[in-house]
Amino acid sequence: MEYNVIKNADAIIGKSPYLVKNPTKYKNKWHDLFGNNNPICLELGMGRGDFIINMAKEYPDKNFIGLELYASQMVMATERLQNTKLNNLKLINADARDIDKIFGKEITTIYLTFSEPWPKRRDERNRFTHESYLKLYDKIFKKNKHIILKTDNKGLFAYSLESLSKYWYVFERVSLDLHHDEYPIKNIMTDFEKQYFKEGRPIYYVDARFDD
Ligand SMILES: C[S@@+](CC[C@H](N)C(=O)[O-])C[C@H]1O[C@@H](n2cnc3c(N)ncnc32)[C@H](O)[C@@H]1O
Repeated sequence: MEYNVIKNADAIIGKSPYLVKNPTKYKNKWHDLFGNNNPICLELGMGRGDFIINMAKEYPDKNFIGLELYASQMVMATERLQNTKLNNLKLINADARDIDKIFGKEITTIYLTFSEPWPKRRDERNRFTHESYLKLYDKIFKKNKHIILKTDNKGLFAYSLESLSKYWYVFERVSLDLHHDEYPIKNIMTDFEKQYFKEGRPIYYVDARFDD
């Protein structure tokens, strides 16, 4: 997937009070940074941030962190956050591969929303539900493991169900059409999801858990 590059994106997002610079400094100290013991939920690849911002607004009793690789992608999120004061939201500009350097066992839920599908078999290890990522998540989950995944990509979804179940995750809820499910699931849409929803494409959803 190609994204627009915004000049000075680093400087723009650097001015946002929501951006945590040098996030590795806060390993094992994220609860201190938030100033409470509420659960910490992490979105990998938050893009323009609509989902994580609205989650933070909707659930003030939880903490949210949006992590994104590209500063250009994050500019929109920082703009959306101007004139807001959400004490339960932080943003990180980093590679998801480095999450074990950023977090200790502090995370309650990981959101994987419309992640790159990496359709070629040789790129499989880049998928956020590849075993190497699932092992990485083990290092940052507080106790029980909890992943919520949404995608429009059937191939990635099938792959993820297989990978998660091989890794002993249990599916609390699966939907092959999140927005038209017989039993509605409380949902906040991401930027990509809004677009796909408009186009009438089904959204695949899984809530996967492993309780220790
Ligand atoms: C298809 S977009 C989805 C954005 C957002 N989650 C949404 O649903 O609107 C995927 C996002 O994942 C980010 N991403 C891809 N690989 C990443 C990585 N290794 N670490 C962090 N972010 C990554 C991309 O830069 C992009 O913003």
